[in-house]
Amino acid sequence: MKKIIIAIDGYSACGKSTTAKAVAKHLGYAYIDTGAMYRAVTLHFLRNFVTLTNHAEVERALAEVHISFIRSEKTNENETYLNGLNVEEEIRKMYVSDQVSEVSALPEVRHAMVAQQQRMGRKKGLVMDGRDIGTRVFPEAELKIFMTSDMDVRAHRRQQELLAKGQLISLEEVKDNLCHRDHIDTTRKESPLTQAEDAILLDNTSLSVEQQVDFVTACAQERLKALAQIG
Ligand code: DC
Repeated sequence: MKKIIIAIDGYSACGKSTTAKAVAKHLGYAYIDTGAMYRAVTLHFLRNFVTLTNHAEVERALAEVHISFIRSEKTNENETYLNGLNVEEEIRKMYVSDQVSEVSALPEVRHAMVAQQQRMGRKKGLVMDGRDIGTRVFPEAELKIFMTSDMDVRAHRRQQELLAKGQLISLEEVKDNLCHRDHIDTTRKESPLTQAEDAILLDNTSLSVEQQVDFVTACAQERLKALAQIG
């Protein structure tokens, strides 16, 4: 059967990765969390005190970044590695979330990450989530979903996720971070977050995880059926 690329874009903490992971599992596809890649770059820059306004410094630091995903035997899910070390937990912390949008707005960073993401999609059979997957990384993706959700719902969900990892963050702080990232992600010069013309809008404010996964899986199956008919 033909394999496709599914691009899932949308605002921070809309449940993109939860949905993308489940859809990939259902279809037997690979899943790539591109936000994790930008978070890993941010962690490297923070650890090495990179000055974001110094292009040469940014380029030098980027050349030292090697990101990979390795399946964990414990969770059976991909975990993010930076230069051979597991950074999955570290990159989800608030001090990284606070800087990631500034780092990911840098053209040098975007060019390097987009090139790596495009290489990962050569064989298709992939679900990728992020901000520019349907508009920049894979404009030819067979299925594009644009996810959105009410801000209060997003902030509450993210707060609960952080709490489950032992991080107690106030709802106000979580909300401020999401608003700040939405603003930078949608207004940056280089491939800002925007809904692709051919993307299907999915507002999951009042949907369960199961409902949103079912919706995207049904869209994928419809596309696969249509492609099989074309031959
Ligand atoms: O998906 P996430 O919240 O973990 O992403 C973290 C940040 O990375 C997000 O605020 C913007 C940036 N990002 C991006 O610019 N482009 C992508 N394709 C994915 C994430």
